[in-house]
Amino acid sequence: MTTLKVNGHEHRIDADPDTPLLYVLREDLELNAAKFGCGLGQCGSCTVIVDGKAVLSCVTPLLLLEGRQVTTLEGLGTIEAPAPIQRAFMEEQAAQCGYCIAGMMMRAQALLQRNSKPTDQQIRAELAPNLCRCGSHMRILRAVHRAAALMQSADASTGSAQ
Ligand code: FES
Repeated sequence: MTTLKVNGHEHRIDADPDTPLLYVLREDLELNAAKFGCGLGQCGSCTVIVDGKAVLSCVTPLLLLEGRQVTTLEGLGTIEAPAPIQRAFMEEQAAQCGYCIAGMMMRAQALLQRNSKPTDQQIRAELAPNLCRCGSHMRILRAVHRAAALMQSADASTGSAQ
């Protein structure tokens, strides 16, 4: 039995400790934003955040996650109240087929949590492990910049800008 904290909720998971996190998210917890692409750590569609870092959930076994904080796209916002990263990707129409987008947003979110104003080059380097076969890279880039601006204006309006 593994205790998993996902999107602020604790779950007791009865699965083999070698089970990839992606399978637990999708099959046990019905959190389907993270996608199975390659299953080999090569495409990024399964990206989630663990303790603030982008992680490929298809190659991350349960046994590494006891007591750690897992965040999936479902934990960021809702359709009614999207998080800045979700709003920015919608406003920039950054998704084409959409399969890679949850992973893209999670990796971008992890970047923005540690770097509130990344450069083009930093965004490109950070998102390099996440593949998009539709070629919407320029819109994704614009969406990450837009999300950074939205987060900064939200910080400024709550008085927490640094
Ligand atoms: Fe995890 Fe491709 S499904 S990296």
